[in-house]
Amino acid sequence: MTAPGSNLNVVTSGRSSEARATEAAGAVKAIYQRRAVRAYDERPVTRHDVDFLVDAAIHAPSAVNCQPWAFVVIQEREFLDRYAKEGKQLLLNEPPVIEVVESGLPDIDRLRQMASGPDFELFHGAPALIVIYATSADGLADCYLAAQNLMLAAWTLGLGTCPIGLARPLFNRAEVKEELGVSLDWPCALPIVVGWPDGETPPTSRRPAQIVTWR
Ligand SMILES: Cc1cc2nc3c(=O)[nH]c(=O)nc-3n(C[C@H](O)[C@H](O)[C@H](O)COP(=O)(O)O)c2cc1C
Repeated sequence: MTAPGSNLNVVTSGRSSEARATEAAGAVKAIYQRRAVRAYDERPVTRHDVDFLVDAAIHAPSAVNCQPWAFVVIQEREFLDRYAKEGKQLLLNEPPVIEVVESGLPDIDRLRQMASGPDFELFHGAPALIVIYATSADGLADCYLAAQNLMLAAWTLGLGTCPIGLARPLFNRAEVKEELGVSLDWPCALPIVVGWPDGETPPTSRRPAQIVTWR
């Protein structure tokens, strides 16, 4: 059934309604079953899989289709370990560095306390990290939508992901941007680790939605 004036028949031509229903069910399943994964095994993520995730990300909606995103992929263990260490140290610096103050992270004192633990590893030992940068100052919302696409697409492959907001201060540092070939004007939207989950990730809870007004 096509709504008057819509081009849905063009977009969906060639696929049966059962096929479309199955795809829709798959998308909803991904929404409900994706978890923030914090334990990974050693297996690397292939270039093919990373390409798939980034392609899913860029199919997110964006204001006036401006597509204000750019990606950095880090898979070399040496870089992952160094950035994990530097990112942790940056969080703990006293007094807090400007990038931490401006990070917008909620409850930053508690997060800093958590990061000071001996077992804290910023990237949870994941074999890949994809950092999404906004290529315009007002492009952050679009990048968050891209991030969610990326994480849901990863779930369809059996890959785990975890957004690492705590690494944002690091990836907003001028020297790190320079090292990664990123414009100094691009704010870091979200670093996301990717890898093969080591074991099951228990589900998290949600408070009931607050629908304040429904007229
Ligand atoms: C913007 C943002 C930043 C986050 N930063 C971190 C982080 O630095 N480290 C981490 O382990 N998890 C981080 N998370 C994951 C959340 O803790 C997780 O999504 C939340 O606890 C709900 O769990 P779920 O994703 O499994 O449903 C972040 C999530 C978001 C959306």
